[in-house]
Amino acid sequence: MSKLFVRKPLAQLLLQASDSEKGLKRTLGAYNLVALGIGAIIGAGLFVRTAAAAAQAAGPSVTLSFIVAAVGCAFAGLCYAEFAAMIPIAGSAYTYAYATMGELVAWIIGWALIMEYALGAATVSIAWSEYLNKLLGGAIPYEWCHSPFEEGYINAPALVILLLLTLLLIKGTQESALVNAVIVFIKVAIVLLFIALGWQFIDPANHTPYMIPEGTPPVMNPKNPSEVLISYDGFFKHGWGGILGGAAIVFFAFIGFDAVSTAAQEAKNPKRDMPIGILGSLVVCTILYILFAHVLTGVAPWSDFADPEKGREASVAYAVSQYMKGYEWLSTAITVAILAGFSSVILVMLMGQSRVFYSMSNDGLLPKVFSELHPKFRTPYKSNWILFAFVGAFAAFVPGSVAGDLTSFGTLLAFVLVSLGVLIMRYTNPEQPRPFKTPLVPVVPILGMVICLGMIVAIDVTTLAVALVWMVLGLAVYFLYSRHYSKLQA
Ligand code: ALA
Repeated sequence: MSKLFVRKPLAQLLLQASDSEKGLKRTLGAYNLVALGIGAIIGAGLFVRTAAAAAQAAGPSVTLSFIVAAVGCAFAGLCYAEFAAMIPIAGSAYTYAYATMGELVAWIIGWALIMEYALGAATVSIAWSEYLNKLLGGAIPYEWCHSPFEEGYINAPALVILLLLTLLLIKGTQESALVNAVIVFIKVAIVLLFIALGWQFIDPANHTPYMIPEGTPPVMNPKNPSEVLISYDGFFKHGWGGILGGAAIVFFAFIGFDAVSTAAQEAKNPKRDMPIGILGSLVVCTILYILFAHVLTGVAPWSDFADPEKGREASVAYAVSQYMKGYEWLSTAITVAILAGFSSVILVMLMGQSRVFYSMSNDGLLPKVFSELHPKFRTPYKSNWILFAFVGAFAAFVPGSVAGDLTSFGTLLAFVLVSLGVLIMRYTNPEQPRPFKTPLVPVVPILGMVICLGMIVAIDVTTLAVALVWMVLGLAVYFLYSRHYSKLQA
């Protein structure tokens, strides 16, 4: 039984980190890492969920929802930074758990990370396909961009973008980082443009009252007047509670900063640059998000985003074309930014996933094929191909709505365990040099755990049930395969 909790000695991990001859190449600097973070962070969360959170729970105070979600992420981010600087090898939360809480917990977290990265990539590639079709004015036939569950054949564009990004990842981390940097430039430029141009169209009346008032009547379906689309009755649906409800919705927008830590083994100077990459990207995005939300809810009344006949769909493009006269081109630019944004989110998620698999396979918990490196590019190319098949199958044949909340669940679980890991490591290895120290331990990790557990509780029951099934499946794999091949248990 005790073998299940066998921990990987820190010395062994650090040896692995310094063994850069055979392993992944160290090519990424601080700027690349911040860009990698922003690449993974700004995507559907900002462009789609901001308006949704305003419409369903927070109204204009969605700006405050962003602050709440950012604070939760910042606590977890500080813990990630301590670990990533101290144990700079691939694998992120999985690796940290192996060193602190033992093999079984590490396995569980590695399995949960598949929900975050692989399903995250699938979800975003489906959204990418939708927006591409929007940009092309609906030129792609319905059957070829929808799954069989939605009366289509296959979601071909989603598959194409996954294929292109897989090829790029195989070519090299540096090449991928370069493409990512270009994409980040485009999407940040367009977000800034929206903020700057939209500012003059802010109507202060749209910001009053700042929260959704109690007693706001529900939004009904115009096609079926007895069906309630949005109700504002619950605690998390109006007033201060609505700010929290909004935070759970916009949390998705922050997912990705942790992906920086999966690339720790490819950072040139991880001790200094990992904390900069993780916390720097989080700070930049938080500022952009708050300003974006302020402008969006100032330009259009939030109630428009709840109204199916107004801006419930493609809300940002709606706000621009309806209220920012003379700037209609901006709505096309925003669609381009969304496509670019989605591409980099997928890229970094796929990369993060293959690095987690790489570590799990090096430890013997997954077959060797996941850690075999390309002879020339030194990237885990076989793993990239397997991942393409897995994520591609989801993207091509499953509807997009299924995977989104599972992504949040997997991420939050990782955040909780990383925060717990920092506490444990301070106790078990107090002397270990820590190039970056999480401030105010134990307060920060404990608050990180509490806030993230709170957000897990707020996830809907169906999603939690699916997540449970996934975790049980993971345990079966562990007990039937992984523990027998674990190098530490050998
Ligand atoms: N944060 C990423 C997004 O918003 C996952 O698309």
